[in-house]
Amino acid sequence: MSIISTSILSANFANLKDEIKRIKNTDMIHIDVMDGIFVPNLTFGQVIVKTTRNILTDLNLKILSDVHLMIVNPHNHIKEFYGLGADIITFHYEAYRNIEKCIDVIKDIKNFGIKAGLAINPETFLPKEELKTLLTEGKPDILLIMGVHPGYSGQKFIDEVFKKIKNIKKAVDECNSDKNLDIKIAVDGGVKFWNVDKIIENGADIIVMGSEIFEGDPGKNIIKLKNKFCKK
Ligand code: DX5
Ligand code: ZN
Repeated sequence: MSIISTSILSANFANLKDEIKRIKNTDMIHIDVMDGIFVPNLTFGQVIVKTTRNILTDLNLKILSDVHLMIVNPHNHIKEFYGLGADIITFHYEAYRNIEKCIDVIKDIKNFGIKAGLAINPETFLPKEELKTLLTEGKPDILLIMGVHPGYSGQKFIDEVFKKIKNIKKAVDECNSDKNLDIKIAVDGGVKFWNVDKIIENGADIIVMGSEIFEGDPGKNIIKLKNKFCKK
């Protein structure tokens, strides 16, 4: 059974509360924070993270708030996003390109008692031993593999990433069994109904989906996804 994280980047922000009601059967709400520096696009920040938390509380929904930071110097903002109600904070390996620093930032996030995610871009290749060091010493809860270049919703999934998920899955499985960890693999960007089965078969535990869910009836699309996974 996979976990569905719905990206609200494709939602209608004129009425966020109604949009969140429409996805109330999702497991997580994925909030894409972009700064126009780490990625070319600018999206939203603290206000939307806080508003989303308030809406979830108002509606009494037990959905995790999954904050994906596509920003430079993410370590400067962890405390703030934690305070605004993030349950998961994911930052990018490419924000530092340094294993030790990434390990420190993962630990900083986990010290707040929330989950830490580490994201990697499609073109980033980490040698297996480096990746295993990062996973076994940092112990992130989630390794998020980007299926597109971060920055925009509605992009096409990059085919080479299918193989990358498979390779990373092997390393993650080894770390999980050797060190008794439970690191999950998330895949974000370009996930559609046509490719979601292959993405899951290759190793994804968490599916981040934006435009495909908001196309048509989001609640029904989530049910459709859940039915697919439950059969497996
Ligand atoms: C891309 C974002 C994704 C995006 C997903 O930079 O990190 O989370 O919103 O949207 P779709 O599913 O439309 O690719
Ligand atoms: Zn994202």
